[in-house]
Order: sequence, then structure tokens, then C-alpha cells
Amino acid sequence: MKKPVVFLTRRLPTAAMEMLAAACTITLWDDEVRPCPREALLNGVAEAEGLLSLLTDRVDEELLAAGPHLRIVANMAVGYDNIDLAACRRRGVTVSNTPGVLTETTADLAWALMLAAARRIVEGQKLIEAGGWGPWYPMQMVGVDIYGSRLGVVGAGRIGQAVLRRAQGFGMALSYHNRTPNSVVEATTGATYLALDELLSSSDVVVVTVPLSDETRGMFGAREFALMKPTAIFVNVARGPIVREAELVAALQAGRPQAAGIDVFEREPIGPDHPLLRLPNCVAVPHIGSATVGTRTRMATLAAENLVAVLTGKAAPSLLNL
Ligand code: DGY
Repeated sequence: MKKPVVFLTRRLPTAAMEMLAAACTITLWDDEVRPCPREALLNGVAEAEGLLSLLTDRVDEELLAAGPHLRIVANMAVGYDNIDLAACRRRGVTVSNTPGVLTETTADLAWALMLAAARRIVEGQKLIEAGGWGPWYPMQMVGVDIYGSRLGVVGAGRIGQAVLRRAQGFGMALSYHNRTPNSVVEATTGATYLALDELLSSSDVVVVTVPLSDETRGMFGAREFALMKPTAIFVNVARGPIVREAELVAALQAGRPQAAGIDVFEREPIGPDHPLLRLPNCVAVPHIGSATVGTRTRMATLAAENLVAVLTGKAAPSLLNL
């Protein structure tokens, strides 16, 4: 039987490549690192029935028109703000993402950023590197305590709940904000539902894990930062455009919140002269929430599984727009 043609916008880990090769004819942008140029993507989907995309590939009307045989777009990410779901639905193209497999890894990174920002880890290393570490003195490099403080998670989905669960060992009081209160979240994490403004003004640490949507774009700006405690730590592991970045820079310069840990940016990748990097109270990393060998391999494999299942008429593990 003729295998369906699929287009991959990047070379994937071996396990995923093997799974795809067994069921499909693979065409790809054969590079692991450099992104697939738009032109190559549009040409690549011309004959394809399946597209395996990354969060950096825009899937819109133009792309769908260029790929008239497409039956599935399998995104290798839990977020899918790069995909016009409505356009896919109109054309009968199925979309899948990779939920679940990156939950714990991303929650770990939220905690790494929280602790690094609160305890000035990066600033401390830079101080040593610059030869600025003098004799010990009482208030040298003091930060804020995480143990015993109040954690507020905005967006208590899978990742938000995993962030909350980790707080148990830190003796923290927990709150969360969602569109609506969720009794399962409350029962499993012990967190209390708060309206957003109340969460912002009462939390010592605010962690953002909401997906990017029309509703959440620009959700955090000057007004929200002004509501936070001056000693608050702000962490974003969701999507950059949820935060109005220039307003975060101004807020950090003014010292409210006291510090931030940021994994995601309005426009990625950022360069070395990005204003957040000039602030001693901001820890910035390059969108690495899910970046462990195991998790990235599982994400690629799950995306491949979704793609193969749809093209071979089987039940796919994680579809978005049925
Ligand atoms: C996602 O999956 O949406 C993350 O941002 C990348 O792992």
C-alpha cells in the first residue's frame, strides 16, 4: 500500500523518525537546528497529507491553501497558538498537540526560575565572575524566602497544578486563578481559588501557566505589576505575549515585582541586548520549559504517534479540534 507523504519542519529524535518512517513517506526540512524557511514550508506541504510542525511554524490560511491534501497538523508542543484552529477546522484538517508529557519538566523549570530569581542565583554568579565578591557581610546578596511564603498560580491546568504540588515541601500557602474555580484542583493541591487581582496582591510568588489566547494576550502589564507586593517574584513559563514586556521591564526597574524568572518572550529568540537581560533582578532563559532529553523525545514521539494514527485511520492520543 502506498504510504502517505508527510512533511516535517525539523529532523526529530530517532525514535520519532523511525515511527514515522515505518508508516509514512517522509519529506523534511533536514536540519535539527535551523528553522524551516516559510518558502520551504509552503513547498513542503504541497503533496503532504500530514505536517509535523513546531511552535515556531505558523499554520494559517496561506499554509493550508499551499497544502490542499493535508489531513493532520501534528504540533510538537502543548501550546498551539501558532495554529489557526478555526481555519484548520473549516478545511477539515485535524490538529494535535503534545499535552501531559511535558507537564513535570515545565513545572520543574518554573521552580528553578522561582528559586533563582528569589535567591539571586544568576546575579551572584555574575558578581563572582566580575571579581566583585568581597568579604562576607550581613546583608550581602540578600533575597527573599520561598519556604513558608504564598504561591499564586495563574492558570491551574496540568502545568499549573504540577507547580502547586511541588510547593508542599516548601510549606507554602497556595492560591490559584482560573477562568472558573475548579474543585478537583482544590482537592488535589490544597490551593484556594482567588480572583486575579486578589491573587496578585496577596502572593509572594506569582507563576503564569495560562495558554496564549485572545483572552490572555497582554494579561500582565503595569496595572497587574503595581498590584503585586514589592517583594513579589514573578515567573512566566507560558508564552511571552501574555506579558506586556516593556511594562515588565519598567516594573522591574522600579522594583515591583522585586524579581522575575522568564522563560518566554514577546518575540523569540531574543538577542543579548534585550532590556530584560540588563536587569540584575531578572533571570532569563531561552524557552527551555520542556527541554530535557526524555521530555523532548516523548514530545516528538507523541507528535509522530498522532500523525501516524490520523493517517492510518486509528485513534490518535491527543487531538484538539475534533
Ligand atoms: C510547549 O510545548 O508549548 C512549550 O512551550 C515547548 O515545550
